[in-house]
Amino acid sequence: MDTDPTTPTPHEPGPAALDLSLPAGHHPVRRDHSAPTAHEPASLDHPVIGADTAPGPGSAPRLGPGTAPGPGTAPGPGTAPGPDRPRNAGGRPPGAPPSRRPGAGYVHGYSEHEARRLGDQADTLAALLHAGTHYRAGSRVLEAGCGVGAQTAHLVTASPGARFTAVDVSADSLAQARARIRAHHPAAAVEWRRADLHDLPFDDGYFDHVFVCFVLEHLGEPLRALAGLRRVLRPGGTITVIEGDHGSAFFHPRGARAQAVIGHQVRLQAVAGGNALIGRELQPLLTRAGYTDVEVRPRTVYADASRPGLVEGFTRNTFIAMVASVREEAVAAGLSSAADFDRGVAELRRAADEGGTFHYTFFKAVAVNP
Ligand SMILES: C[S@@+](CC[C@H](N)C(=O)[O-])C[C@H]1O[C@@H](n2cnc3c(N)ncnc32)[C@H](O)[C@@H]1O
Repeated sequence: MDTDPTTPTPHEPGPAALDLSLPAGHHPVRRDHSAPTAHEPASLDHPVIGADTAPGPGSAPRLGPGTAPGPGTAPGPGTAPGPDRPRNAGGRPPGAPPSRRPGAGYVHGYSEHEARRLGDQADTLAALLHAGTHYRAGSRVLEAGCGVGAQTAHLVTASPGARFTAVDVSADSLAQARARIRAHHPAAAVEWRRADLHDLPFDDGYFDHVFVCFVLEHLGEPLRALAGLRRVLRPGGTITVIEGDHGSAFFHPRGARAQAVIGHQVRLQAVAGGNALIGRELQPLLTRAGYTDVEVRPRTVYADASRPGLVEGFTRNTFIAMVASVREEAVAAGLSSAADFDRGVAELRRAADEGGTFHYTFFKAVAVNP
C-alpha cells in the first residue's frame, strides 16, 4: 500500500503566464522518434512481450491477435475537442504535421543521452520520490510508461515481493528497461508489454496498484489516460502519479535569458501536445477521472554547494540537460536564435556553479479507485 508521510513544502509562483503558441510560420522540429524507424515500428501490431520470471497462473492476460492498439488509437488533431483537451492544443501552428502515433509528440526523444538522463534523474531523486511507496508481496502492480526502466529499478527494490507489469509505447525503451532490470535485479518479477496506456490490453480491475511517473506531462489527453488506468485498477486499488512542474523552477543567480530557455522548453512541449506545468493539476485531474481520496504532496528538490550530489545529479544532469536538449527545436521554431539559446543555457548553468542555488518541485499524488 502506498502511504505518504511527506509534509507540504512552501511553494513559490512560477514564471508569469506563458504564451504557448509558436511564432507564425514556424513548426516544431520533428525528432527522429516521430517517424517510424527500424526500432520503432509505426503500429503496435507486434508488441514486445516478455516476462523475466515465469508467469504464474495469475499473470496478466496475453495479447491476442487484433487486441493490440493500432496507430488510429492515438489522439490526433482531428479528435473532437473534449473537456480534457489540453489548453495548449490550439497552440499547434497551422499546417504543423499531426502526431497520430502514440508517443509521436514525445518532446524528449529516445536518444542514448535521454536514456542516461532518465537514469540520473531516477537515481538522484529516488529517496525523494519513492519514499512511502511500498507494495505488498503478491500484489499486482502496473507501471505505465516505464521508459528505460529507471523507476522500475526503484520500484522492485522497494517492493521485492510484488508482481510488476511494465508497459511502454516504445519497443526500444522496453528492451533497454528489460536489460537494465535483468542485469541489476535478476530476481525481480516483471512482465514487459508494449502497449499504449490509453488502450491497455488487460482485464478490468486486473491490478491492485498503478504507478505512473513523468508520463502524463507528455499526453494530450491526461484525463482520458487516467480514466483508462482506472479501468484496469481493482476497486479499492491505488494509483500513484508523479509529475514535475517547470513553473516551480527558480534559481540564483536569476536571469531573464535563463528563464526564457525554460519557457521555450515549456512551449515546445505544449506544441507537441504535452504540458510541462501539469504537476499543479494532479488533484483536479485525478478527481475528474473518478478517483477518490486524492492526496497530493509536493516534493521539493533544493540544491546548493552544500549538496554537490544534487547539484550534479539534478541541477546539471537532469534539469539543465533537459532544457539544453531542445536547442535545435527552439531555433527551428523561431523561439530563439542559437546564440541567445546558448546564452540562456550558460546563464542557467550558473545556478550549478559555486554560489548558485536551484529549486524545483515535483508533485506526488496517491488516489483510490472507489
Ligand atoms: C519521460 S519518460 C518517463 C519514463 C519513466 N517513467 C521514468 O520516469 O524514467 C515518458 C515515457 O512515457 C512513454 N509514453 C508516452 N506516451 C505513451 C503512451 N501513450 N503509452 C505508453 N507509454 C507512453 C514514452 O515512450 C516514455 O518512455
